[in-house]
Amino acid sequence: MKTAFRKSFLLATLCGGLLMGQAQTVSADYTPTAENLQARREFADSKFGIFLHWGIYSLFAQGEWYMTNANLSKDEYAKAADAFYPHRFDAKAWVSAIKAAGAKYICFTTRHHDGFSMWNTQYSDYNIMNTPYGRDILQQLADECHLQGIRLHLYYSHIDWTRDDYPMGRTGRGTGKDPRLANWDSYYDFMNNQLRELLTNYGEVGAIWFDGHWDRDQDSIPFDWQLGPQYELIHQLQPACLVGNNHHLSPFPGEDIQIFERDVPGENKAGLSGQSVADLPLETCQTMNGMWGYKVADQNYKSTPELIHLLVRTAAKGANLLLNIGPQPNGELPAAALQRLQEIGAWTRANGKAIYGTRAGGIAQGDTIVSTRRGETLYLHVLDPSLTQLQVNIPARVREVRSFPDGRPLKYMFRRNCLTLDLDIPEDCIDYIIEVRCGGLD
Ligand code: GLC
Repeated sequence: MKTAFRKSFLLATLCGGLLMGQAQTVSADYTPTAENLQARREFADSKFGIFLHWGIYSLFAQGEWYMTNANLSKDEYAKAADAFYPHRFDAKAWVSAIKAAGAKYICFTTRHHDGFSMWNTQYSDYNIMNTPYGRDILQQLADECHLQGIRLHLYYSHIDWTRDDYPMGRTGRGTGKDPRLANWDSYYDFMNNQLRELLTNYGEVGAIWFDGHWDRDQDSIPFDWQLGPQYELIHQLQPACLVGNNHHLSPFPGEDIQIFERDVPGENKAGLSGQSVADLPLETCQTMNGMWGYKVADQNYKSTPELIHLLVRTAAKGANLLLNIGPQPNGELPAAALQRLQEIGAWTRANGKAIYGTRAGGIAQGDTIVSTRRGETLYLHVLDPSLTQLQVNIPARVREVRSFPDGRPLKYMFRRNCLTLDLDIPEDCIDYIIEVRCGGLD
């Protein structure tokens, strides 16, 4: 590693970073390789991924934060590992259902904040091999993803509510960790050893998706996550592997994508996405119901039209949607999630061309008309079927206007850059798409 170039400095430009204790060792000299840049483009083209939050927390059926929310003793909680036997887990069924939905990648929680590893790691006994199930979940999933040609991204928690060596942050305070045993060097080595395993033993990894940086945002003494060398390690092991970090801040050097939690880029309805939008491939993660990990009480699933609108609105911002499912403790994806995957699949098969490989269209009227773009072709997505007329400004010449995907020519008026056309949209149309072929679009 080029330690000579490593710089430790305060990222004070990150709004309030100094006050919030965001000292960082970052790699100031990161230049992405050609294969990394190619991977970024492919990622930006792919538009749709499925997030899977699965671990022993699923057994409690209270979401993945149950341990800290209920201040459970880490030792009592760990007994769940001895009951983890997901006898219906079928990697082929998962990957097939996800692929049929039109998703191009899967992001899997290898180790969440509770500290349990879902793969055969030699760096912690608290792992899937030491459950009655005793088989490497990640291996099965990775093999199936590679077989079916769907990319595998790995979620990896920076924080740990179980290990004593992870210095106590603002969460996981009631789990019985011994603060006297905090040892950042030991924990840091542990993480990097695990990352080396993940990037060596499971074939091509599309991205490492970090989470938990915000655990130190109330530290009085700035905490240095030493992200620079960690990111360097990842890029050394797999140069095309994209690094993303769900820190809710502007990207740090060494990151290849920017993540937004529960909001499309540029919106901040959930309160976690106030950061500015960077010139990197973007991803918005969102839940299908309300929780990431399986929660028995949460049957509040978003409807298929809502999810498709979310996918379209996200693509219209130039971002990918990483849509979450919390698999059940028995290893199955919930029926409500499977049904939505199927319905989304029917939609993406018919309309995918207006999403995949596109970039932000730049033309929008609130949430009812948004747009994607490929070269000189604009796709206007009308998300409200009750609209009877469309009137948008197009900063180019308009050559052809057709309904999509059937290609039927539409009558329109185009005067002084204003495109006007009458609409007669069937009531049950989720997204009425108009294809506009332009000339001279910027
Ligand atoms: C938040 C939650 C975490 C979840 C993640 C997914 O950071 O703390 O549980 O995995 O969001 O975006």
